[in-house]
Formats: sequence, C-alpha cells, structure tokens
Amino acid sequence: MEYSGEIERVLIDEKQIAQRIGEVAKQIDADCAGKMPIVICILKGSLVFCADLIRAMKTPVTLEFMKVSSYGASTTSSGKLSVSLDILSNIEGKDILIVEDIIDSGHTMYALKEMLKTRRPASLRIVTLLDKPARRVSPVTADYTCFEIEDEFVIGYGLDYAERYRDLPYVGILSRSVYEN
Ligand code: PRP
Repeated sequence: MEYSGEIERVLIDEKQIAQRIGEVAKQIDADCAGKMPIVICILKGSLVFCADLIRAMKTPVTLEFMKVSSYGASTTSSGKLSVSLDILSNIEGKDILIVEDIIDSGHTMYALKEMLKTRRPASLRIVTLLDKPARRVSPVTADYTCFEIEDEFVIGYGLDYAERYRDLPYVGILSRSVYEN
C-alpha cells in the first residue's frame, strides 16, 4: 500500500501494536480461564485488530461479526443504534467479548452494550485497540484498552478515512491536506 505524503506520521508502529496486544491477550486469558467466550468483531474497523488478538490469546473462542453504527446521543436508550449485520447465535448465558477498534464519543459502544445486555449474556466485556477519552460523551469504558490516544485523526490497522488506509500495518495520523481538500 502506497500512501506516501498522505500520512503525517506513525503514531503506533507494528512492533508496539504486537507487544501491547500480547499483554492484553494475557489479561483476557487470565480473566477468561476455563471459558470459551464468543468474540464479536465489530466491522469493519476491528477486523485487523481482532485477527491479531484472537491469535495472541490462548483462550479458545468462537467468532461472530456485527456491523453497527450510532446516530446521536444514546445515554438513555438503546434505540440510537443502527444494526446492519447482526449475529444469529443465541448469546443468552454466554460470555461475550466485544472487539472494537476505537471508542470515540462512546455512542456506538454504549448503545451496542445496552442492546446486547437485553439478550442476557452471562458476561459482557469490551476490548478496544484505541480509546480517545477526551472525546467521550456516552458513559462507557472498555474492560481492556490497548492504547489511550489524544484527539487526533488516526487511520490504519483497520481504521479508515473514506474507506481508505485500513490496510496500513500501523496506526498513523492522517495529513491535514487529505481531509482539508
Ligand atoms: C467507528 C468505530 C466505532 C465507532 C466509534 O466505526 O469502529 O464503531 O466509530 O465512534 P463513537 O465512539 O463516536 O461511537 P465506523 O462507524 O467508522 O465504522 P467502520 O468500523 O466500518 O469504519
């Protein structure tokens, strides 16, 4: 992938990502001992992270995919969530691990968590690659966060701008010239 001139700088390189995923995978393994959680990969941004995370974990998992987006503040109900791809399996009584690429305002994760809770899982945990706590509006925190970042325009390692840059192996900061044109 050739994006020279479009990336301002590398924020988190491949080595840092792999090392941190290894650490977080160990924490999840410890917390999930004896269990076989259902990993729910939230498309599209989480695909790359999820692929690396489940291979770094020793815990056996099953894998599901959802595609969701939020539309507005969602602190009072789960009605602000648009689900364009849902899981078909029954999660009642099951241990769930939601894998997200980034929590920004928190609207998406808050609404998703509320919606999944109505399906009565035994447990519901969230792991996120990136967290931008400065941007939080909806009250949600991840159980596992790989990296807390400043409010910067990040792309790569699954994250896009206009569907591009997901294929970068690192998390980078997009040049202003790309989105100000
Ligand atoms: C991104 C990201 C989260 C959400 C975070 O998804 O993957 O789901 O936005 O934002 P929030 O905390 O402000 O709700 P996006 O809708 O861009 O879809 P994508 O993963 O397919 O790129």
